[in-house]
Amino acid sequence: MLIISCSHGKHLGYLIAGRLHKKYSNLIVNKFPDHELRIRFEVDLKNKNVVLVQSFYGNVSDCIIEIILAAKTAKELGARRVMLIAPYFPYMRQDKRFHKGEAVSQHIIADLIDKYFDAVYLMDPHLHRKNKLENVFKIKSKKLTANSLIADYIKKHIKNPVIIGPDEESYKWAKNVAEMLNVESGILKKKRYSPYHVEVKLNKKIDLKDKNVVIVDDIVSTGHTILETAKILKKLGAKNIYCICAHGIFVNDAFKKLNKAGVKVVSTNTIPNKAAKIEVSGVIASSLKQFLLNR
Ligand code: R5P
Repeated sequence: MLIISCSHGKHLGYLIAGRLHKKYSNLIVNKFPDHELRIRFEVDLKNKNVVLVQSFYGNVSDCIIEIILAAKTAKELGARRVMLIAPYFPYMRQDKRFHKGEAVSQHIIADLIDKYFDAVYLMDPHLHRKNKLENVFKIKSKKLTANSLIADYIKKHIKNPVIIGPDEESYKWAKNVAEMLNVESGILKKKRYSPYHVEVKLNKKIDLKDKNVVIVDDIVSTGHTILETAKILKKLGAKNIYCICAHGIFVNDAFKKLNKAGVKVVSTNTIPNKAAKIEVSGVIASSLKQFLLNR
């Protein structure tokens, strides 16, 4: 097995390779003056099982083009199998035609991955209506989760926590983490009017007075879901408000806004950012180890 980091996978690729004692290399990625991408492998791929590590943040469209170029080239250069490890994988939220004329992006991007890869491992993918990765991809797929690492972090750093999921979809993270910790949890109801206008309401009565409330979710992007949730939690008397997410995208000034609102933010390192205090390479490496054992 050969582990190769693409441009946005370097922060995890070498850690995963190190944990598995496997050969490691970086994909060389340059841009032509007109912004077309040029990729190049520096190692011999003949008869190798190639694992490409790419997280998708910043210019996600470039990240996608890059892995498609890399997967196809790897096969042309003789790779036996090509697998994608995506600590964060985008386009999972557009899983239906929300508005007339819109693309169902999740299906289209999944079709591309199916065409060029043999297997795909995603960390905490946003599976809402589809529920299972097998309903998204036709190739072998596996869902990994950082929930146990999030639970460990809370156990070590936050006393007497109450866990809150900011919307109905977040139960897979919030409820699951609360169960691991054996603490109380609640889920809120969210209505999104636009990317920046979100309304959140509590759906059950929970005593939050003087409690350390931890909002657990998969993605923080603009931060508006968390900001609206924090407003409600404050009104209900929460002492400290934390937000722990699997994927800290933090677009524009999301991080600043959350800090200003007094929310203490922590994320995993699926996407590098200042709040990335939970390290996920161990979870990825052990699932790859399992994959190697089962071959
Ligand atoms: C969507 O349902 C996700 O679970 C997150 O709640 C959402 O993506 C967060 O987005 P934002 O930070 O822009 O409110």
